Order: sequence, then structure tokens, then C-alpha cells
Amino acid sequence: MGLDLPNDDRIKDPVPETNLGCPFQADNARVHGEEQKVMLLTGASRGIGHATAKLFSEAGWRIISCARQPFDGERCPWEAGKEDHVQIDLSNHRMLPRAITEVKKRLAGAPLHALVNNAGISPKTPAGERMTSLTTSTETWMRVFHLNLVAPILLAQGLFDELRAASGSIVNVTSIAGSRVHPFAGSAYATSKAALASLTREMAHEYARHGIRVNAIAPGEIRTDMLSPDTEARLVPSIPLRRVGTPDEVAKVIFFLCSDAASYVTGAEVPINGGQHL
Ligand SMILES: NC(=O)c1ccc[n+]([C@@H]2O[C@H](COP(=O)([O-])OP(=O)(O)OC[C@H]3O[C@@H](n4cnc5c(N)ncnc54)[C@H](OP(=O)(O)O)[C@@H]3O)[C@@H](O)[C@H]2O)c1
Repeated sequence: MGLDLPNDDRIKDPVPETNLGCPFQADNARVHGEEQKVMLLTGASRGIGHATAKLFSEAGWRIISCARQPFDGERCPWEAGKEDHVQIDLSNHRMLPRAITEVKKRLAGAPLHALVNNAGISPKTPAGERMTSLTTSTETWMRVFHLNLVAPILLAQGLFDELRAASGSIVNVTSIAGSRVHPFAGSAYATSKAALASLTREMAHEYARHGIRVNAIAPGEIRTDMLSPDTEARLVPSIPLRRVGTPDEVAKVIFFLCSDAASYVTGAEVPINGGQHL
């Protein structure tokens, strides 16, 4: 006795055929003349955020960015970058309602396809050493947790309608330090990233019924301003790929998670670390 499958078009491949090739091309709205996709990216001015903004803008996305510094048109060549930049300190939770209002103003009712919570801080001692739970001030704990954990919660809450309208995708940037003691990352940073990884799981569960996917990426040692000067000497020998990563290698994974190529991926935390966690 065989299976009685309906011989009609009710059973379909959930992924449209156009998305089976290179996700970068499939998502290039400009190339396909489709609606332009929009992302909100925190911390787009430097490092991983900067590489992410460049990659998405090359693929035709519109980038709305948030950071403390004003927009630098020379370093950030993406279109309408100045108008779409919200200058704000996300570690001050009282500023979050203003950030959300500013983003909504720029969206003007348009859907939001991606929210990438990338801005983060990893404070060190004046000598550049890791800050321990014995020595970190209450003020530093609060600043780190507000930026690294609370801002992603409030941004997603505040922009929920816009994300739902796009069946959008959230990517939280965690860290290898969230799952193991790290020689340079301090306790406040590590625990904020561990909490962000747990939050990703909780949000993925809660947002799934609304068609919103929530994932995280956990970078290892990536060459940005955040990297401690001794990283190459002390850590590279124990990284299986024997090098630190580059911001664009992280950006490509964020892009994958925000693309239709990842349409069945939610609640994942993708390590990007050259095998450092193995
Ligand atoms: N680099 C690594 O090896 C590594 C490893 C694991 C995880 N990560 C994570 O990856 C993310 C990006 O790191 P990165 O290395 O690219 O850092 P980065 O080069 O130091 O850049 C940080 C970005 O966040 C913005 N930012 C910092 N504080 C902010 C605040 N209070 N409000 C708004 N924006 C703020 C900065 O812009 P302004 O200064 O203009 O505010 C900047 O654009 C972080 O979440 C970090 O924890 C990095």
C-alpha cells in the first residue's frame, strides 16, 4: 500500500525557486526591481557593523543606523546614510523611546525586514585587562547590560509591528565570551552576552508565531577596535584556523540569517570563530 499523496499543487516547496541560488543575488532588490528591503543596524560606524552595512547596501538594502557618533559620510558610503542615521546612546534606556520614534519616522509606515542588534561594549581596566565581578562598578554593569541586552529587547518590542509586516528577521550579536571565560572579555560583558544568547532562544519562541525569525551570531576574535592588542599572540595559536576573523566574514553570516536562504532557521546561535570553541 503506497502513500496517498494528493496529486495537486497543495504540497509545495516552501522556498521559491528564485531563492535557491546565491542568496546575495536573490536578495538584491535593486537587481530584481522588487520592493527595497530595509534594515535597522545598531553600531554601523565601525567594525562588524560597518562591514554589515556595506554588504547589505551593496545587495540593495536600505540601512537605518544607530550609534553615538554622527554619521561619517566619507567612511560610510551607503545611500541616504546621513538621513537614515539616528545619533543616540543606546546604553541609556531612557533614550530608547526616542530611538524607536526616530526609526519609525524614517520608516514612515514601511515594513522592517531586519533588525541587527550589533552595538556592544566590552569595558577593560585602564591597563587593558579584563574586569572581574569583584572589581566592576555597578555603573559599568548597568551600562553594559543596558547596551548589550536591554536595547535589543526594547528595539524589537518597539518595532514589532514593522518587523511583523515584513515577516522580518532579528539577529543578535553575542560572543564566544558568553559561553566560556575569556582572557580579555570581562564578567559584565560575558554575562550580558550569555543573557543575549538566552534571550535569542526566548524571542525566537515568542516571535515565531508572528512570522519573525530570531537568531544570534557568536563571533570569536574578529579584527576590529574591540580586539585586545595581545589577541594575535596569545590566542591565534589555539584557534584551529590559525588566524583572527575579519568583519566581512561576520557580515556574510548575518546576511545569510536575514535572507530567504535561512527561511527555516530560528533560535540558532551561529559560532563564527575559526573553530576556537572546539
Ligand atoms: N570584535 C570582536 O572580536 C568581537 C567578538 C565577539 C563579539 N563581538 C560583538 O560584535 C559587536 C560589534 O563589535 P565590534 O568589534 O565591531 O565593535 P566596535 O568596532 O567597537 O564597534 C562598536 C559599534 O557600536 C557602536 N556603539 C558603541 N556603544 C554604543 C552606544 N552606547 N550606543 C550606540 N551605539 C554604540 C559604536 O559606534 P559609536 O562609537 O559611534 O557609538 C560602533 O559602531 C559587539 O556586540 C561585540 O560585542 C565582537
